[in-house]
Amino acid sequence: MSIHISAKKGEISKVVLQPGDPLRAKYIAENFLENAKLVSQTRGIFYYTGTYKGKEITVGASGMGFPSIGIYSFELFTEYEVDTIIRIGTCGGYSNDVKLFDLLNVENAASESTYAKFAWGFEDDILPHQGNIYHVINETAEQLGLKTRATNIHSSDIFYRKDPSIPEIATKYSCPAVEMEAFGLFANAKQLGKNAATILTVSDIIPTQEQISSDERERALKPMIELALESALK
Ligand code: ADE
Repeated sequence: MSIHISAKKGEISKVVLQPGDPLRAKYIAENFLENAKLVSQTRGIFYYTGTYKGKEITVGASGMGFPSIGIYSFELFTEYEVDTIIRIGTCGGYSNDVKLFDLLNVENAASESTYAKFAWGFEDDILPHQGNIYHVINETAEQLGLKTRATNIHSSDIFYRKDPSIPEIATKYSCPAVEMEAFGLFANAKQLGKNAATILTVSDIIPTQEQISSDERERALKPMIELALESALK
């Protein structure tokens, strides 16, 4: 057990798939894993461990934002001997440069957040994916015939804001879209010498307010889930 995860030692696999939403973790466990067992539900943040094509895989949520993914990824890496976390999430496009359903593999996460500075003393406002898993995801996507785009992402603390223009940091680092967790995950993995990647599906286009409807979400997220699972096998 750790402070925020009640699984016993040995109940979490070396590779963890981490969506933001606990119900998405449940959906993945019930529809993609065999013999999935609920190993933690502290604060309603579900973790399931099962097998995928014979390999033990844990899928569990990060919650939203750096404080939340910071806590869960740190405890997974330090208390459960997890060596790789693949975040699977959604993002909002800043322009028509990305389209609904596009699949992004995050190369670098740029942020105005002070999380990495005050947690670990990292002064950079942009952090790369960690370890080899990003490359494994690119290779796996190619083998599966899935089109992914290698990209920088804006990792923001803010979902609602007054000014509708594209934030300065997103322009500075050519980030076509925004989410709220990758920078915190990459910071923890960098500090701890672990592997971390983030795969995202574009779920909304901010200026036009287009979005994937709730009916379409399952279909929309399937390629990302399969890509993460197949990458986790390697
Ligand atoms: N995740 C999905 N859409 C988002 C948005 N518009 N802003 C931040 N995070 C998101």
